[in-house]
Amino acid sequence: MSYSLIDFAKTSKKSLLSLFEQSLSNKRNFTQSKFVSKMVGTAGLLFFEPSTRTRFSFQTACARQGVHPLVLDSYEGTSLEKGESIEDTILNLAAMKPLFFVIRCSDTVSLAEIVGTLKVPVINAGWGVKAHPTQALLDAVTLVENWGDLSGKKVLFVGDVLHSRVFGSHLELAKILGYEIAVCAPSEYRSNELSCTYFDDLDTAMDWAEAVIVLRVQNERHHQSGADQNRVNNYAEKYGMNTLRLKRLKQSGLLLHPGPINYGVELEKEVLKDSRSVVLQLVENGVFIREAIIQKILSGETI
Ligand code: CP
Repeated sequence: MSYSLIDFAKTSKKSLLSLFEQSLSNKRNFTQSKFVSKMVGTAGLLFFEPSTRTRFSFQTACARQGVHPLVLDSYEGTSLEKGESIEDTILNLAAMKPLFFVIRCSDTVSLAEIVGTLKVPVINAGWGVKAHPTQALLDAVTLVENWGDLSGKKVLFVGDVLHSRVFGSHLELAKILGYEIAVCAPSEYRSNELSCTYFDDLDTAMDWAEAVIVLRVQNERHHQSGADQNRVNNYAEKYGMNTLRLKRLKQSGLLLHPGPINYGVELEKEVLKDSRSVVLQLVENGVFIREAIIQKILSGETI
C-alpha cells in the first residue's frame, strides 16, 4: 500500500472514480474566497526540470488546501550548485517533515527508489519520459466531466509519443478506466513495441477518434534518443492539427493538448477557438484534481 503517486501500478478503478468525484466536487463548490483557513503544514515542491502549469497548479492547490508550498525550482542558490545530488537534497528536505513532496525530475533520478526510502508521500509531477500521472488524471477527469463513463471511448494521440511521459501514464490509466488508445505519429517519434492501434494517416485517425490528444514535439529530449538526426520533414503538413483537419472530428469529440504548445508545429493557434477544444479547461481542472490528490494523501487514502 502506498500513499505516494508515482504511477498507476497499484491504482484501482474505484479509487480513481472517488478521486474524480472529489475533483468535480471541488470544482462545483469552488469560490475564490473560501479556502481552508487553517494552515495544516508544509509541502516540498521540487522542480528539477522546467514547469509552468504543473508547478503553479500544485502551488494553487496547496494554498487552497491550507498547505504552505515550499518551492525549489532552480539549481542556482541551492546546494545542487555545490554538487549535492538530487537524492541527498530530497533526503535532507524530508528531515524537515513536510506533509508531502511534489517532484519533477529527469529519468536519471531514481525516483521510485527514493520514494521507497522516504516516510513522506511523493507525488510524481513528471518523471523524465517515464510518467506524468497528474497530467493523465486531469485529462481523464476532463473527459469524464464532458462524457461521464470512459469505457470504450476512443482516444487518439498525435505526435511525439516516444518522448511523452503523459502518453506513458495514459497507457496505464486506459487499462484501468477502459478507454481505447491509438497513435498517429511519424516512425521517428514512436516505438513499434506498443500494442495499440497505429494510424499512418492523420485524416483517417481523426475519423476514428472521439478525443484527440495532440502532443508537443519534445525537441529538448531528442538529443537523448538520436531523433534530432532524423528530424521529421513537413511535420505540420503531415501531423499538425489545423482547422481543416479538425472538421473531421465528431461534433461530440474533444481536442486536448497538455501544453506548452509549439504553435505552427503540432497545432495551429486557430483550432483553440473551436468549441471542442478543452485545452484551458484542462489547466483549470488541473488545480481541482491536484487538490483532490492532496486531500486523499492528507486523509491517508491511497490512489
Ligand atoms: N503539461 C505540463 O506538464 O506543463 P508544464 O511543463 O508547464 O508543467
